Amino acid sequence: MTVLAHAAVHPGSVLDLHPLSSALGTEVVGLDLSKPVAEPLIEAVRMALDESGLLLFRGQRLKADAQVAISRRFGRLQEVAQKQYQLKGQPLIYVIGNVEEDGRPIGDPSVGRLWHSDQSFLPHPAIGSLLYGVQCPPEGAATLFANMYAAYEALPPQMRTLVGRLHAVHSFSEYYEELRHRDPTQPALTQERRALYPDVIHPLVRQNPQTGRKALYINPGYAVSIQEMPGTTGARLLRDLCDHATREEFVYAHRWQDGDVLFWDNLAVNHKGTSFDSARYVRRMHRTTVAGSAAIYAASMVG
Ligand code: OGA
Ligand code: MN
Repeated sequence: MTVLAHAAVHPGSVLDLHPLSSALGTEVVGLDLSKPVAEPLIEAVRMALDESGLLLFRGQRLKADAQVAISRRFGRLQEVAQKQYQLKGQPLIYVIGNVEEDGRPIGDPSVGRLWHSDQSFLPHPAIGSLLYGVQCPPEGAATLFANMYAAYEALPPQMRTLVGRLHAVHSFSEYYEELRHRDPTQPALTQERRALYPDVIHPLVRQNPQTGRKALYINPGYAVSIQEMPGTTGARLLRDLCDHATREEFVYAHRWQDGDVLFWDNLAVNHKGTSFDSARYVRRMHRTTVAGSAAIYAASMVG
């Protein structure tokens, strides 16, 4: 049975925190992210994120520079590689959705439609992503989140021991090919971009550097094989583990309202976008991305 295990994990926090679902997530009530936020509150937000992996702030109105300013409090920000989807005048904002300006698409239309963790195809993936719902369709376009701590902890002990010794190959190009397979209008991957993102290896289990809590770090979007296993055996184990991690009890579906800000820890959760009627509705989201580093990555190694 699933209980609100994370409901009791913030004793004495200076923030007003409420669990979002039995699977994961915490709503932070009463914090205006557009105003300067005092350091003790920022510290409390960091702690809440370390505990729950996903935070929601509702009713926000964030100009581009304000979103960058609040995001910076959590680390160095990173421009996304797709320059055509950087917000004009503020390249640290990645525009997502079917939004157009002067008849030209300015948002990435097909982001995140497979379960993934942002940038797991990089040697030092982004630690966090802050996604602001500027304009959200009234139906569809939910974003799903899976609790990778709970998924790890629910594995039988022998399986935890096994996965603790394994490493997965994460591949940007295979993910891209799968997306193209689903949406043939996507342009082919250029040699340049392919060369920019060679396959990388990550352990199947990483830990939160602050709390030491272990999470299953794989996702069906990018993780394609297991280094220590023959191709099909590894691929099957990955598929089984990913199926396990997206069982209903580990998943929260966020139905967006304008002004919602979600901030997630890419080590703690996998996520996935879902479709909406893009002929009827406009969707506009602004994402800032908190960069990883060699030091943060090293601190997430178990043992
Ligand atoms: C992302 C992402 C999915 C969505 O912003 O990283 O995967 O529903 N978004 O917009
Ligand atoms: Mn994503």
